[in-house]
This record gives sequence, structure tokens and C-alpha cells, in this order.
Amino acid sequence: MELGTYQNFIGGRWTNGTSNEVFMVKNPATEEVIAAVPNASTGDVQAAIDAAAAVQAEWADTLAAERAAILRDAARLMRERVDHLAHTMTLEEGKPLAEARGEVNYAASFFDWFAEEAMRIYGDTIPSSSRDKRIVVLKRPVGVTAAVTPWNFPAAMITRKLGPALAAGCTMIVKPSELTPLSALEIARILEEAGLPQGVLSVVSGTEASALVKVIMDDFRVRKVSFTGSTEVGKILMRQAADTMKRVSLELGGHAPFIVFDDADLAAAVNHAVLCKMRGMGETCVSANRFYVHRAVYEAFTLQLAERMGRMKVGNGLLDGISVGPLIERDGVAKVERHVADAVAKGAKVVIGGRRIGETGYFFEPTVLANVDHSMLITQEETFGPVAAVIPFDTEEEVIRQANSTPYGLASYFFTRDVGRVFRLAEKLEYGIIGANDGMPSTAQAPFGGIKSSGLGREGSMYGIQEYLDIKYVSLGGIQS
Ligand code: SIN
Repeated sequence: MELGTYQNFIGGRWTNGTSNEVFMVKNPATEEVIAAVPNASTGDVQAAIDAAAAVQAEWADTLAAERAAILRDAARLMRERVDHLAHTMTLEEGKPLAEARGEVNYAASFFDWFAEEAMRIYGDTIPSSSRDKRIVVLKRPVGVTAAVTPWNFPAAMITRKLGPALAAGCTMIVKPSELTPLSALEIARILEEAGLPQGVLSVVSGTEASALVKVIMDDFRVRKVSFTGSTEVGKILMRQAADTMKRVSLELGGHAPFIVFDDADLAAAVNHAVLCKMRGMGETCVSANRFYVHRAVYEAFTLQLAERMGRMKVGNGLLDGISVGPLIERDGVAKVERHVADAVAKGAKVVIGGRRIGETGYFFEPTVLANVDHSMLITQEETFGPVAAVIPFDTEEEVIRQANSTPYGLASYFFTRDVGRVFRLAEKLEYGIIGANDGMPSTAQAPFGGIKSSGLGREGSMYGIQEYLDIKYVSLGGIQS
């Protein structure tokens, strides 16, 4: 199945840009080429920044209601075109069609949410220390911004950044992953149709990611960069941001613990474990990577999880009945194989799965490993694949210590019926997102983000828009009483 030829969207124009090259986008289920996209040059990124800078002041001066109307319209168009967008996403990323439809709706929900937040960019007044003065706090857009987005959520990770940027009155240059540029370009098309003025948004796709992003990082006019991806790259961007004193939001790697206590509703814990582990084939930053299960329910939980994961049908996400698609790349499969082999060599038991599937496409069996311990790679590195590593524990103190024993701090989950324990864990787990009896906590109105090596800043929610606003205050003197 072919989608054909795309163009980049630079300064409000669909263009091949200055490079004569194209790069191919492949379907990870079949390894077939599905589309060709112009391979953006550093000059193209420069042109996108020039266009954004040229219209920034005008866009900042639009009414909140005007910006909100564009976002709302874009959300509506996304929902109307959910079939086409989901199909495109499945072709380029691999996730099953039903999940891709879910992501399109999730992505649209950020435009809806930030359309509302545009209307609530409030300031403050502060009591002054003299009678003839007043202090007023204003919020203004930070200016030109950029988003560097990953392949695992080709639409939602763009709208979660672009929604608040546009709502706040910022222009934005989006550099999507070269593995999944098509969803990004479809979103640009939709915003163009929704009436976004020329230059406010550019989408620049290309394979020379570090050179393209360096242009953004070096340009003083770009005042903020939001990145979702690895901790390693996040650190590089943070260093690069120092020279131009840019703001950064960094949504980085995770290594989520999923804890099941002996008083948990076991059926609910298993259901949520499957959803949390298998969403996006396990290739999400919030995927559970370490399952800590109380020894009293260890065997029951592990067998039920294995039974459920073993029933999942793996294949091309466009086909009926498929609930697990391919991983994004061959390297991803190799990493999962390495984690499984290392765990088995150190004494883990494969309860189900454990192997790659077929020669074509990047498929891996849903896998459950029992008797996992902290000497194994899988408890240290993010697996980004469909492997559930199950570790027994005996006490609350022990499991909190183990759950926190990683530099990462994005998402964590636990299942218990004890309300006191809910609060103890919520306070002690060193994570930005805590799912208490909830394996799927992501939603537009909640502040998504991590602590420690999982990053800085929050996306979504009423907090997300603040990342795109500067605070100023006016001290107004000479007021006669
Ligand atoms: C991510 O994995 O980066 C995002 C997941 C989510 O939004 O739930």
C-alpha cells in the first residue's frame, strides 16, 4: 500500500525545500516503502525560523478567541478524518488500527483542551508596598518555539506541544521523527485548512536530525524547545540550549514500576497491566517495565498475565483482529532480544513468548518473564518492547526502595485496596505520574511529565500552557489616592 509523495510545510508553503533529495518512509510491518518525503536541509530549517519570526508579533497579538477557534476547528477536522489519519499512522508506525484511531482522538483532545486554555491566560494583581503604586502581572507568549517529536505517538506528541504553543500565541517549527513524518504533515494540512496564518507553523522532516535541530538550538530567536525522546538526546539539547538561554521542556525516558499488592483487585490489576504494557507494543515512555508482585499473589498474577498476553494476536496492524503490531525498527527487536537473553542467562524463566516472529517486519512475541531480579539488564534499561518482567516482593518498604532504584522518574503504577497505602506510595514514589489502581492515567487535562532523568516541564493540563508564556510585571506608579 502506497501513500505517495509528500512535501514539507515551510513558512505556510508546501515545498520540496532546497534539497533535491527525498527519503523513504517504510511500513514496519512489511518493510515496504509507503511514501517519499523531501529530505529537509539546514537551510530549510532556517527558512522556517525566518518565517516564524516574521509573523510572531502579529500572531501574538491575535485574540485568544481567534486562536481558540482555529484549534477547535483543527480538532474537529482530525476527528472527521480519523479513518484516514489512523490508516496513515498504522502504515508508518505499525500500531494496530484501533489504537491509531485512539491516538488520533487523543491528539485532537489536546487541541480542544488548549483551545479552552487560550481563553484562561490570566494575569494577577499584587498588593504593592506604597499607596501610589499598583503591581500587575502579565503573561505574554515566549515567541518562536520548536518541537522535536518522536515516532511512537506520531500525532499526539505533536499536538501536546503545538496545542499550547498556538494557544499561547507562539509560532512553532515541528521537526518530527524521520520514521513517522506523514502524520505530522497531515496535521499541518489540517491546521492550514482550519485557517492558521502562513508562517505560524512549519513542519520540517529530514534524516539529518542532529544537524537540523542544531540550527534551531543555535538560533537566538527560538525561545523555547520542547522535546520528547531519549534522556541521552535530552541532555545534549539542554546543554545546547544554554548558549541562547532557551527554555526547554524535556519528556525523556522512563522505567515504570507496576506494583501489585496482596490486597489488590487482581482481575483489575491484570487488565491494567495488559493495557499499560502492550499499548503501542510496549514502545511508550510510560510502559510498565518492571512488575513487582507481592509473593502471596505472584503466581496467580503471572499466570493470568501470561494467559492474557498469550492470547493477543500479533501482525500487520491494518488487518482485522490484530492487537499487537510490529516494533518500529529492526534495532528495536534486537534490543528486546538482548534483554530477554540476558534475563534468561541470569535465571529468569520465559512463561510465554520470548522470540521474534518471522523474517519480514519487526515483530516480537508478547512475552512474560518470571523470577526476574535486579541483576538483569531489563530492570535497568528501558526495553521499549512487549516484555513483562515480573519480580516478587515481600514488604512495602522493600518495593518502594526497588521501585525508586533507577535514575528515571516518569510514570509508576500500583494496585492496592488500602487507602493509607495509596497516600504513602503517592508521596514516596519518585515519579511525576502515579497511577493508583490505574494503568492508563494519560489525559489532556493532567500534567504529563517526569522528574529526575525523565525530564523537565509538564505537558497538557493548565500547567502545560505556562511553559509557553513569559511572566512580566508592571509596577505602575504615580497613582493619586
Ligand atoms: C509517551 O510515551 O511519550 C507518551 C505516552 C502518553 O501520552 O501516554
